[in-house]
Amino acid sequence: TFTPNAFVEEVIADMKAKIGNDKVVLGLSGGVDSTVAAVILNKAIGDNLYCIFVNNGLLRKNEFENVLNQYKGMGLNVKGVDASQRFYDALAGLDDPEAKRKAIGNAFIEVFDDEAHQLTDVKFLGQGTIYPDVIESVSATGGPSATIKSHHNVGGLPDFMKLQIVEPLRMLFKDEVRRVGRSLGIDEELLGRHPFPGPGLAIRILGDITPEKVAILQEVDAVFINGLKEHGLYDKVWQAGAILLPVNSVGVMGDERTYEKVVALRAVESTDGMTADWVHLPYEFLMKISNEIINNVRGVNRVVYDISSKPPATIEWE
Ligand code: XMP
Repeated sequence: TFTPNAFVEEVIADMKAKIGNDKVVLGLSGGVDSTVAAVILNKAIGDNLYCIFVNNGLLRKNEFENVLNQYKGMGLNVKGVDASQRFYDALAGLDDPEAKRKAIGNAFIEVFDDEAHQLTDVKFLGQGTIYPDVIESVSATGGPSATIKSHHNVGGLPDFMKLQIVEPLRMLFKDEVRRVGRSLGIDEELLGRHPFPGPGLAIRILGDITPEKVAILQEVDAVFINGLKEHGLYDKVWQAGAILLPVNSVGVMGDERTYEKVVALRAVESTDGMTADWVHLPYEFLMKISNEIINNVRGVNRVVYDISSKPPATIEWE
């Protein structure tokens, strides 16, 4: 049986032996895997671990600031890089889902490479790869490995990819990563976070991306996610989020006719994201959230709930 404490002790010793006095650079995503990997490496090599946390302008509301502060509070040597504009520029005018993913992946690699270049004598690239990523090496769910693969086909490798790789979680399943995180004293809220896709809100804004659309969706998403938390529903749901649809619908506000955006809410139950069922959220809850969104988020006058399961629908809309 798996014992988190024994694993931690062993992996720290391994990492120390492998890395010695060399430097490691690691990209933090705000997710469980990269965070646990970083805390382990930090315990093994201290400030020789250089973490980079990129704001791609496509994160949830206030996520960049909150998570960056959380990381600093955990004693990680982390640099926050706000590259939002660079991502918006790369996305401008793109409406094809795969083109959007590719643009985001390439922008991420460029930003990370720029940052890694500013560090001297780095020898290793740390990654939060877990066992399911290893088996599913061409990952259908994207993430760093898929990003790197699609870039790989495009041309030469960025410098940071010539580094040797260290993957402390390579043998673990997701629930084991959470248990390890818990034994390391990582905040329960961080360990219990819903999965969030690397391309972020860009694949929940159907069609082209603008900072204005991102701002609207961030507000809607925050109402929904905070509502789930307040009603004790967040932990009963595997993943949830909102989608900004590329259509306007007619509504009425006071005496005025409105013609504004429609958003869809999605909440699913799943174990691994490969299959998923929509969650039967209470009607009362949906009513409250719908009112709160329409009353508080300018530019939205209609809310719908996604009742599609995977397959044949996917969890994300793009
Ligand atoms: P789908 O939409 O394929 O999503 O049912 C399954 C899970 O994967 C996440 N997802 C992604 N994660 N890059 C990622 O890092 C991506 O391009 C991507 N597309 C989907 C999705 O959020 C869900 O958890």
